Amino acid sequence: MAEQLNEYQGKATMEKITSLAKRRGFVFQSSEIYGGQNGAWDYGPLGIELKNRIAGAWWKEMTQLNDDIVGLDAAILMHPRTWEASGHVENFTDPLVDCKKCKARFRADMIPEENLAAKKCPECGGELTDTRKFNLMFKTHIGPAEDTASIIYLRPETAQGIYVNYKNIIQSNRMKIPFGIAQIGKAFRNEIVTKNFIFRTCEFEQMEMQFFVKPGSDDEWFNEWRKRRWAYYEKLGVKMDHLRWHQHDKDELAHYAKDAYDVQYLFPMGWRELEGVHNRTNYDLNRHTQFSGKDMQYIDQDNNNERYIPFIIETSAGLTRNVLMILCDAYDEEQVADKGNDDDWRTVLRFHPNLAPVTVAVLPLMKKDGLAELAQDIRRELKEDFATDYDQAGAIGRRYRRQDEAGTPFCVTVDYQSKEDGTVTLRFRDSMEQIRVPKTELTARLRQEIKDYKRIK
Ligand code: GAP
Repeated sequence: MAEQLNEYQGKATMEKITSLAKRRGFVFQSSEIYGGQNGAWDYGPLGIELKNRIAGAWWKEMTQLNDDIVGLDAAILMHPRTWEASGHVENFTDPLVDCKKCKARFRADMIPEENLAAKKCPECGGELTDTRKFNLMFKTHIGPAEDTASIIYLRPETAQGIYVNYKNIIQSNRMKIPFGIAQIGKAFRNEIVTKNFIFRTCEFEQMEMQFFVKPGSDDEWFNEWRKRRWAYYEKLGVKMDHLRWHQHDKDELAHYAKDAYDVQYLFPMGWRELEGVHNRTNYDLNRHTQFSGKDMQYIDQDNNNERYIPFIIETSAGLTRNVLMILCDAYDEEQVADKGNDDDWRTVLRFHPNLAPVTVAVLPLMKKDGLAELAQDIRRELKEDFATDYDQAGAIGRRYRRQDEAGTPFCVTVDYQSKEDGTVTLRFRDSMEQIRVPKTELTARLRQEIKDYKRIK
């Protein structure tokens, strides 16, 4: 057995996760038939379910479980003045260098300092150009004339859609400070370096919540939101020893931030940012006041109509980056036999049942003798309550492996005994344990199993 093992056996690598994601229909390269589009990915049948569930968990946490947070879905295209006010036109840049010889392009802050100082390409040793600033916003034109008056940007963060609507929401929904606005949506950045699969892409999705607070209470709320975001990942069932905080030092702070902490996750390529918690002060609302000429002050009717521009605590998580995190976190290879062949190992995605794209798969032991029909009937009943799959192709062991690889936490197998006594086999993904359950009790049993779920590995 030992000679079959390579150093990567049993471990998650980006190559394995990328390949599994494609093989099982989680994520495909965009426009693959044309050689692929850099920085863009397509979510397949399992991927879109996983992404929707992650978004749903975040949305529930923010809006359903917090009385003082409401939702918003603002347009991607915003008035171009928005981005002047926000500081993105001026400041949202990366430092860029090119190699004159091999034409490779680098982010200057991502190559060794000695190469930068000697202007030497880290790949071919050729001469590097001077560092120049490169704005990350995608710029296009709206309307038939491609002149400067028609310039429009694809939003690089969803946050600004919240700021420009904050007064609308106070008025329409009678919100009182402190309160928050949550939004999930696409954002676009012309990233110089897009690698590590869906980690850093040009088109991605964010889950952002902006919490409006009275100036002076911002430090307290900042700490509170750090606590809440940590507790959220714990509740999601993520491996907590794979999470840590990273505080931004002065050089790292965005132009709007007074203080910022990243939640970092230990991805196969190392510790990387997953989400940011930022104290954005009243920078954005002040700037929108200045650029729009509209009064962005909050009027505190419970406090002698005191007026102030609120401070904003932002929690900003990448949805697509969370998909990658959940895939990496769930990925496991487990040795289940010792016969010296490939079947000794299984690949299993240990998703929390609330996140798994398919919750329960129904499998007839045989296609014949009425077992397929019985299994279809059971699936029809389960469909009302759970995301289901049905598979009758191939040996039952192989079908279990296929479901393990898709991260399906429960399989229901229908066999000859089912026809006689109305019981089915319920198989658990993580332990591979199998028990008999009356089919009439399946829905209740599955609900309870999901509620009580604890990851064992
Ligand atoms: N509104 C604040 C903001 O956008 P950010 O730190 O630039 O802050 C927040 O981005 C989160 O968005 C990151 O923690 C990351 O999860 C995600 N994100 C940012 N750029 C990304 C990219 N190019 N590809 C995928 N996700 C990205």
